[in-house]
Amino acid sequence: MNLQELNQIRDTALAEARNAADAAALESVRIKYLGRNGLLPEVMAQLKEVPNEEKPVFGKSANALKNELTELIKERQTQLTSGSKKADAFDPTQPGLWPELGSEHPISQVTARIVEIFQSIGFTVADGPDIETVWNNFDALNTPADHPSRDEQDTFYLNSGDLLRCHTSPVQVRYMESHKPPIRIIAPGRCYRRDTPDATHSANFHQVEGLFVSENVSMADLKGTLAYFAKQFLGDEVKIRFRPHFFPFTEPSFEVDFFFEVGGKARWIEILGAGMVDPNVFRKVGYDPEKVTGFAFGMGIERLAMILYGIKDIRNLYENDVRFLSQF
Ligand code: PHE
Repeated sequence: MNLQELNQIRDTALAEARNAADAAALESVRIKYLGRNGLLPEVMAQLKEVPNEEKPVFGKSANALKNELTELIKERQTQLTSGSKKADAFDPTQPGLWPELGSEHPISQVTARIVEIFQSIGFTVADGPDIETVWNNFDALNTPADHPSRDEQDTFYLNSGDLLRCHTSPVQVRYMESHKPPIRIIAPGRCYRRDTPDATHSANFHQVEGLFVSENVSMADLKGTLAYFAKQFLGDEVKIRFRPHFFPFTEPSFEVDFFFEVGGKARWIEILGAGMVDPNVFRKVGYDPEKVTGFAFGMGIERLAMILYGIKDIRNLYENDVRFLSQF
């Protein structure tokens, strides 16, 4: 290796760096000359073979080349990535890059529609935390300590003694304890139960709670409100029926079925639980049951979404598979 050869390397290296067409090409030039196994380190290693009288000049030139090439590559890198050089290559006929648009999850869609309907008749949205006290989730809702739904097999307890709420009904308690009647609230939210996941069960699901408390609220108000909701939600043809049921926090209590068409056939489908607020609940939150009456209801969102959209397996709603979600 001598000075002349070094100068040749210099010329090609600088030319290659100058002519590199894009960032990738420039990077291969950098690796070729400056990389750990590149030409320049190799040149340096050969310094001892250079004739003695040339050594000082050769060493200096090799170093200068290294610096010059490093600088040039840096400069070209900024040029190539800033796109100033790319301006010529811009093709205005190319289709644009569209960001992929997401869509609202079916659970969010159904929740939003329910909330919208009740808001239109004067209900306001309330909410509460997923982690609840035993008082809010059970005691204040007239659900005594020996009630089976308080069983450890039924509900998730935390070490603190609190629990993951098994329905949205504790929002009733929270709201009544912090507000005076009249009350008209709708409370959507997440609930938890010790259910083994299968096509119709999930340990985590959603409900919407409703509560109306005032003077002289009657069963007729409950029926009228739910009938209005059913028609808004499913159309004028829908019919509703009340079946006697039991909930600790309402008396009387009902399961409410809607009669409507799914999959081309009209039939009765259980949609929600409802009833007149039990006087004991009013006492627990400091209301006077001689003065106020009210109704409450709760419905499962997943169930509704599954019926409306013909979804066969509840787990589809949680897998976040875009092929599933993009259908709604
Ligand atoms: N909390 C009840 C449930 O989860 C539903 C309900 C709410 C029933 C309000 C009556 C009144 O099953």
